[in-house]
Amino acid sequence: MDIPPLLSERIGQSGQSACLAFWDRLNPVSQARLLHQLQAFDWDQLDVLRELVFPPIATDAGLTGNLSNATTPACLQVGNPLNAPSPAQALARGSLALAEGTVGAILVAGGQGTRLGYAGPKGLYAIGPVSQASLFEILLGKLLGVRRRFGKDVPLAIMTSSATDADTHAYLRSHAYCGLNPAHVFVFCQQDLPALDAATGCLLLEAPDRVAVAPDGHGGMLGALSQSGGLDWFAQRGTEQIVSFQVDNPLAMPLDREFLGYHLLCQADFSTQIVRKLDPAQRVGVVVAHAGTHRVVEYSDLPATLASERLANGRLRFDAGSIAVHAFAKSFLDRVAAIPNALPLHRALKAVPVWDASGRQVVPDAPNAVKFERFIFDLMPLAHRVCVVEVPASQGFAPLKNPSGAASDSPQHVRAALVQHARTQLEKAGVFVADGIDVELDAATILDHEDIGRVLLPGSRIDRPQVVGGEAS
Ligand code: UD1
Repeated sequence: MDIPPLLSERIGQSGQSACLAFWDRLNPVSQARLLHQLQAFDWDQLDVLRELVFPPIATDAGLTGNLSNATTPACLQVGNPLNAPSPAQALARGSLALAEGTVGAILVAGGQGTRLGYAGPKGLYAIGPVSQASLFEILLGKLLGVRRRFGKDVPLAIMTSSATDADTHAYLRSHAYCGLNPAHVFVFCQQDLPALDAATGCLLLEAPDRVAVAPDGHGGMLGALSQSGGLDWFAQRGTEQIVSFQVDNPLAMPLDREFLGYHLLCQADFSTQIVRKLDPAQRVGVVVAHAGTHRVVEYSDLPATLASERLANGRLRFDAGSIAVHAFAKSFLDRVAAIPNALPLHRALKAVPVWDASGRQVVPDAPNAVKFERFIFDLMPLAHRVCVVEVPASQGFAPLKNPSGAASDSPQHVRAALVQHARTQLEKAGVFVADGIDVELDAATILDHEDIGRVLLPGSRIDRPQVVGGEAS
């Protein structure tokens, strides 16, 4: 098979002929596979990416320089009576939006879960401490809980990537969309971007017939949502506000009424939940205020000296830890989706296995490649009004990032946090839970402690591991 002349010329112009190193030795099926991938590339974009492999030295210094005047922004705290608007006003406004059915949700589930070391999409990971429910079951269950209480579906868009798309579709079908009406679920796939050789800027072959690519970051949501018709899909369902959340956090409360209420009453384009960052080493981005705008500085971009700097009161100077639960005005997403390259590309040095000239796969022990990602939180500076809401970590943040046995964010930590959260809610509802017993709240039935009274009377006692709510109760 011959490479079409125009493509061949374009590859040459971009200085990327090394991606054809094995062409003459490939069988026709492999040639067709590689050709298909190369034809799908945006070669103009590839030239831009190549420029980014070697950034000007000033980039990092510029970032640090900007942060010298940055501060932690003022924020509302869930449940704080001193908030203006008050928690009661926010609860009422958030409840109204849910009852009107004007809130939609986006779940980002395109990541490769490399740190967790789990082969499939993270959403399939069984995390329920008693039920063994998957992350998808728990997170989608929360939308069922809203429908049960407010009588309206929450349209849900799930973002997958080439790494997670097929398995996610298969899982949703075989699990009846975790109880959601499939008509209100929209699955869309983010784009891949090539990983480039950190030394040369060339495409890397991860197999003789395959160029190494990776998902373009959760910020890929913006382009993929608009190109797939997702923004129109939300519009057809009357969605006016959209919350987004990550598949790795089963404690996430993106549809929390109070949070939604603050977002709406503050007339924010972009609201975000934070937890107080206590440990400089905690791998969370931080929300900062600078020159009249807000933005998130990713943990990997925050110099160690600034990450550990403390104020006179002992708190970290930058302690508004982003938990990646956001609310957007739909009109804001429509506006920014129309801006070309609204989200910048970030580069990350990664170790990517490659096929070497002698025809063997080499697994590097140090980063050899640059991957490119867009981050959805980079929309923050484009918002006219940002609202930052602090939630207690014990109520809203238990991320699954690391494998079993790790010092933090492991399955054991997440299950313990789910059990502790269930205990607190049960105790609030007057239910006694014996020491050392694992309890879990069924996400689809128990939205919060107010629902517990429907399934357990105050004064009841739990002596054995139990899922409260659902069929198991
Ligand atoms: C992320 C945030 C960090 C935040 C932390 C909270 C980024 C860059 N950083 O860090 O600021 O404090 O979560 O837990 O997001 N995903 C996609 N497509 C991709 C890449 C990721 O959908 O191309 C999804 C993943 O499935 C996951 C989420 O985005 O749900 C976070 O990705 P991950 O790479 O794990 O981010 P962290 O480094 O943990």
